[in-house]
Amino acid sequence: MDWGMQNRISQIIKPKTGRTVMLAVDHGYFLGPTTRLEDPKKTIEPLIDYADALMPTRGGLRNCVDAKTSTPIVLRVSGGNSIISEELSREGITTSVEEALRLNVAAMAMSIYVGSKYEHQTLMNLADLCDKAQRYGMPVVAVTAVGKDMVRDARYLSLCCRIAAEMGAMIVKTYHTDGFDKVVEGCPVPLVVAGGKKMETELDVFEVVSSAIQDGAVGVDMGRNIWQNDHPVAMIKAVRAVVHEDYTPKEALDLYKAQEKEDGNN
Ligand code: 5RP
Repeated sequence: MDWGMQNRISQIIKPKTGRTVMLAVDHGYFLGPTTRLEDPKKTIEPLIDYADALMPTRGGLRNCVDAKTSTPIVLRVSGGNSIISEELSREGITTSVEEALRLNVAAMAMSIYVGSKYEHQTLMNLADLCDKAQRYGMPVVAVTAVGKDMVRDARYLSLCCRIAAEMGAMIVKTYHTDGFDKVVEGCPVPLVVAGGKKMETELDVFEVVSSAIQDGAVGVDMGRNIWQNDHPVAMIKAVRAVVHEDYTPKEALDLYKAQEKEDGNN
């Protein structure tokens, strides 16, 4: 692998543990001002130092993230629809590689919608972006987006993740599911898991993260389950402990509770 590509990936997946906690804050690109991300700057500020990488859009980055940060950026570069549009899968590439280089990011991220109406378009977006990004040693993170009525089982996610890797993605973001070890087995590049909608309890989150890690994921790219929590700093610290230190879900919950007291409202 080229030095630049390797160096960028090492900024995201920490060489010491081979794992990563990415903080997703890109939701506005189709959801608008999502709950607890209404003012991204306020949400991001207390959390950014605990994230191994931050995933915003270019607008989010320029307007809401301090340029002096040392946290690597994984830039969301696909979009073109909204939560009220009929077909969420109709995405294009919204940001060029040149702009990503100007913003000094560590990777570019985009969604593919396997099995949806615009499957072909999104897969060709990925192939094209990988071609362009490769020229500059820029890794592409493929996000396996799932349509509203689609089943997120291991068979389907294996299909999505493998296709993403074959198209040239260097990291794949997907969902955790039963039989996730099979998804990992079929995907030759590192996998990170999304959190999805806010889960009922903190323990539920730690259980998902822990299973994903045990099954072979290199980490998480999580948003709502961190910053929609009443104690986001405690939450990200506990998620880090599971990802980087193999804490059990119960140990992570104890840490969360201890931090919750220490950190007050953050
Ligand atoms: C949609 C996305 C999101 O915008 C986001 O990154 C997901 O994070 P979470 O589900 O953990 O809130 O990638 O496909």
